[in-house]
Parts: sequence; C-alpha cells; structure tokens
Amino acid sequence: MKALVLAGGKGTRLRPLTHTSAKQLVPIANKPVLYYGLDAIRDAGITSVGIIVGDTAREIREAVGDGSRFGLEVTYILQEEPLGLAHCVLIARQFLADEPFVMYLGDNFLVDGITDLVDAFREADYDAQILLTKVAEPQFYGVAELGPDGEIVGLEEKPEHPRSDLAIVGVYTFSPAIHEAVRSIRPSARGELEITDAITWLIDNGRRVHSHFVGGYWKDTGRLQDMLECNRIVLEGIERSVRGSVDGFSEITGRVVVEPGAVVENSVIRGPAVIGADTKINGSYVGPYTSIGEGCLLENAEVEYSIILGDSAITGVSGLTYSLIGRNVEVTRAVGVPNMNQLMVGDHSKIQVRA
Ligand code: G1P
Repeated sequence: MKALVLAGGKGTRLRPLTHTSAKQLVPIANKPVLYYGLDAIRDAGITSVGIIVGDTAREIREAVGDGSRFGLEVTYILQEEPLGLAHCVLIARQFLADEPFVMYLGDNFLVDGITDLVDAFREADYDAQILLTKVAEPQFYGVAELGPDGEIVGLEEKPEHPRSDLAIVGVYTFSPAIHEAVRSIRPSARGELEITDAITWLIDNGRRVHSHFVGGYWKDTGRLQDMLECNRIVLEGIERSVRGSVDGFSEITGRVVVEPGAVVENSVIRGPAVIGADTKINGSYVGPYTSIGEGCLLENAEVEYSIILGDSAITGVSGLTYSLIGRNVEVTRAVGVPNMNQLMVGDHSKIQVRA
C-alpha cells in the first residue's frame, strides 16, 4: 500500500502566514502539521509516499527531504495548478501504479492517527473508504448523506444547504478503481476535479464505497481557530521536560517543555506550553496552550492560548491571547505621545486591538 499526501494549495484562510509559508508547515506544538501526518502514515506501516506539491514546492521539499527522517521514501509530484483533489490522483497515476493507497490531505490532523483506518481497508474488499465526523458547520466541507443502513446516499462538496452534519475527513483509502473514476468526471462549478465527484462515480458504477466514523479528534487546520484548537489538543498530551535554563526567580507550573538553549528568567510559565530552542523569556508570563517557536524573545510580555513562530520578538506588550504570530515578527510597546497604536502589517493580516 502507498500513500499520496497533498501538500499544494494556497492556504488563503491562513494569510498572511501563507504568503511566505506553506499551510502544511504551520507548527502545532512547534512541529509542522504535515509531520504529524507523515508520522501517522509511517505508523500505519506504509513507507512509499508521493507528495503533491504546488507553489510552495521548494519549502515542502526542504522540510521533508527524502523522507528518511520519518522512515519514509518520498517521491515529489508537481501539480502546476490547483485543479482539485481528484486531479492530484490523476497526475500521480504513474507513482501509484496499481497499488491501493491512502490519500492524506496535508493540513488534516487526526489525534489517533490512521492505523485503524488503513488496517480496516487492508482487511476488507472496498474500492474506497471515507472517514466521516459530525461538525457544526458542514457547509465548509464535503458532506455525506447516509441511508438507514449507513450506506452512502450522496456526497456533496461544500453544499450551501447541507443534507447532514457529517463532514468528510481529509483521509481516504482507494483501490486502483479510483483511476477510472478520476478520468471520468468533469470539473465542478469551481473549476476543480472534486474527489467527492470521483467517489460518487464509484458508487454510481456499482463499486463498494464504505464509510467509517472517526473516533478521535479531527481538525482541518486551514483556519486560525482550528490551528489554535489543534495546538491546545496536542499540548494537552505533552510531558513536562525542561532542558533549557530556568533561573531561581521563575516559576514553571504543569506540563511545560523548555527546549535546549532556551533561557527563562524572572518569568511565570503555566502549562501546557512549549518554549522553543534558543528562545529567551524574561520578565514575562506565558499562559496555558501556548507554543513559542525557536529563537524568539519575550520581554516584559504576557501571552496565552497562542502560537508564535520562530525568531519573533514580543516586548513590553501584555494581554496577547488567541493569536497566531508568524516568523520574524516584532510586537513592541508604543511609548510617548500620542497614546496610539502603530502598525505595519502585511496584506490579509487580522489585528484586534483594545482601543
Ligand atoms: C477538502 C475536501 C473536502 C473535505 C476537506 C477536509 O476541502 O474537498 O471534501 O471535507 O478537505 O479537510 P478543502 O479543505 O481542501 O477545501
């Protein structure tokens, strides 16, 4: 069995971070979300992985390399334009050959991994297996309608009026029958070859498509609130490990990871939280559910329930919460008069100030 990981796309909902960085590389507890997926694939016993890359190909290649670090053999497949998930299967035909495979959307996160799903597919005789979960806002996902016996009656991509609250999770398993399906469908109204249409084609042509409910926690990390929530869930499970230096005036409570080279002085850190390598925290408060990347500086700052990427500095600013801060960002206190805020922010940024 092989894996096809989708790591293209523009990540419009996470701009401005995704102007300079792939959405699949935004970190959850200081580890890119894509790495969790690659680990899950390896844990399911799969080693041959094709990664579909697009505009951010260079960055994904740099981050994942040949895959050996994950115990995987990685082949990169370039999708020149984002023409849909089924289009990814189409262009991966040669790599996939005639093997069954799991297709994994690189910004999806499943706390319990995919081993059960892959094992169930290996034992059964399905042409496709999809994962479903109840969500509050099904209109943002592919939606499945099930019949009285749990059979799939219909699938729709981001319907305006969803027929159920069952979203399709971005992890699918397919037999080689999917290749005929992706060749047979036409682009949708948004101009993409939809995987939901290819699966519908399988059903209409008498193929066996099975649905499986996700037991554990699942998120598509495409939006800020989902990233922060995912970060919270992962931090809930970390073990305390203080390998950096913490002075006697600091207080570290609960499950806190302080990476090597990090320095904590005169500060309070209440876990769960992670402090990246070579980050300096001075005279600051870091509250629960916060991930701070490597090489950051927090001075006279207070932050909680946030993700801060590497090499950023927060000085003299308190009350930061529910925030996602990119790389090389500076947030500093304004002094003097007039008593106003001064901003220089990139396109598509979102700022909320207590004015
Ligand atoms: C894709 C699929 C959708 C699925 C979702 C899960 O949408 O098209 O059916 O529910 O992934 O993450 P996207 O988020 O890529 O727009």
